[in-house]
Amino acid sequence: PETITVQELANRMAERAVDVIRELMKMGVMSTINQVIDADTAELVVAEFGHTARRVSEADVEIGLAGIDDAQGDLAPRAPVVTVMGHVDHGKTSLLDALRSTDVVSGEAGGITQHIGAYQVTTESGAKITFVDTPGHAAFTDMRARGAKVTDLVILVVAADDGIMPQTVEAIHHAKAADVPIIVAINKCDKPEADPARVRTELLQHELVPEELGGDVMCVEVSAKARTNLGQLEETILLQAEMLDLKANPDRPAEGVVIEAKMEQGRGSVATVLVQRGTLRKGDIFVAGSEWGRVRALIDDHGGTVDAAGPAVPVEVLGLNGTPEAGDEMVVVDSDTRAREVSEYRQRKKRDVRAAAGARGTLEQMFERI
Ligand code: GTP
Ligand code: MG
Repeated sequence: PETITVQELANRMAERAVDVIRELMKMGVMSTINQVIDADTAELVVAEFGHTARRVSEADVEIGLAGIDDAQGDLAPRAPVVTVMGHVDHGKTSLLDALRSTDVVSGEAGGITQHIGAYQVTTESGAKITFVDTPGHAAFTDMRARGAKVTDLVILVVAADDGIMPQTVEAIHHAKAADVPIIVAINKCDKPEADPARVRTELLQHELVPEELGGDVMCVEVSAKARTNLGQLEETILLQAEMLDLKANPDRPAEGVVIEAKMEQGRGSVATVLVQRGTLRKGDIFVAGSEWGRVRALIDDHGGTVDAAGPAVPVEVLGLNGTPEAGDEMVVVDSDTRAREVSEYRQRKKRDVRAAAGARGTLEQMFERI
């Protein structure tokens, strides 16, 4: 249900909060400045003050990934989006770096590549894979909790000399909860003490049955350090992805998710966005969480400027008016009026939630004192 705080309501009517509280009291509603009141009550108060209320409803304002569905015929195959997870020090970063070096379009190895939170690799066969570098399981869960389904596949990295460890188990739980298929990369197979067979057996205890043991979980023995079997890992990813039949409509206004965002000296707010549907173009007006902007520049994962980014393509977006949060959805809208309206509505809602939390805090403190 729609709500507003007494303070916010007063602000919007340019009235004093005490007068609003008094008006509410006349209506039999005892309130404080941080009190959250429902829209119906607010409307009555507004009328009492002789103003007219224009209710901006969730439906009016909110636009989301659950928006228009694309016609089957408009869908085109897209690259799989892969997240690497695993226990600390098992080689997630090393593996991502090694996989990145397999990119056939990135030019010379060792060339300066921008580190953005996600990148796309073109494999030897010409297929593309997008890798997302989640900073940790918490971020993954957080994004999922906020409804952002970022990843199609999880690569579970397990060091062959260490086996399944607590965070490996955690990662398995996260992937299962998200209903995302798991491919196991048994890493550090270059080490003399590596025991990939043991890793496979350990997986059984977590209801992951490797293909070699009669199940359907694909395992690949790799070494990020020696760069062995990286091609095979990629082929396995593509095989698994094929079964998922991943498609998106590239010919529509873009929708995506913010992978990371920060304020940068001289560049302003910069967000790494993974486009999920449609194509994002320079000049597009968009909403990202409770922020909005107009795309001033798009920078790809090689640090070059691009004019557009389609489904499963990660890009850095410049031109934001504020810094959104990781996991925020990004949606292109048709005008800056609309973008501003959505952004203001969401910021207001955020403030209301905070105010409500604050009010609850005071109440709890009150009870504590009793
Ligand atoms: P966190 O981000 O801290 O959780 O670690 P990580 O999983 O990203 O591991 P990282 O890639 O930082 O690697 C940890 C250590 O293992 C480093 O010293 C790497 O050099 C080493 N390492 C990674 N992959 C391999 C491998 O295939 N073989 C060997 N021998 N060492 C590896
Ligand atoms: Mg790491």
